[in-house]
Amino acid sequence: MSQSIPLCLADSLREGQARGFDPDNSGQATVIALRYRGEIFLWRNVCPHLGTPMNWRRDAFMDPAGEKLVCFAHGAIFEPDSGLCIQGACLGQRLTELNGYIDARGWLMLTESDKYETGNAK
Ligand code: FES
Repeated sequence: MSQSIPLCLADSLREGQARGFDPDNSGQATVIALRYRGEIFLWRNVCPHLGTPMNWRRDAFMDPAGEKLVCFAHGAIFEPDSGLCIQGACLGQRLTELNGYIDARGWLMLTESDKYETGNAK
């Protein structure tokens, strides 16, 4: 059975901005939400290289230009829209995309099941 969890108002995500969320109250951001070229994407905050979180401090996921996702453990670089690693130790591997949607009130909702479903927030 799946349920939906509100993350933030979709409009609060600026272009090129990523934020981390902890929908399981685990004490660690497990979900990345970002806006890239007008669309919102949801990724699991797990680097395919060593399975660690990508950020070194809160919401630090993107490069300074807001164009690429960066794993700050060893510097792997990912495309924000495909999750593909284009440089670094996990070259050619992908982040895990999560399901979500924007509800009628404008909230970005994460669709969660027993195990996160993969998909997108479009
Ligand atoms: S854990 Fe992400 S690049 Fe090594």
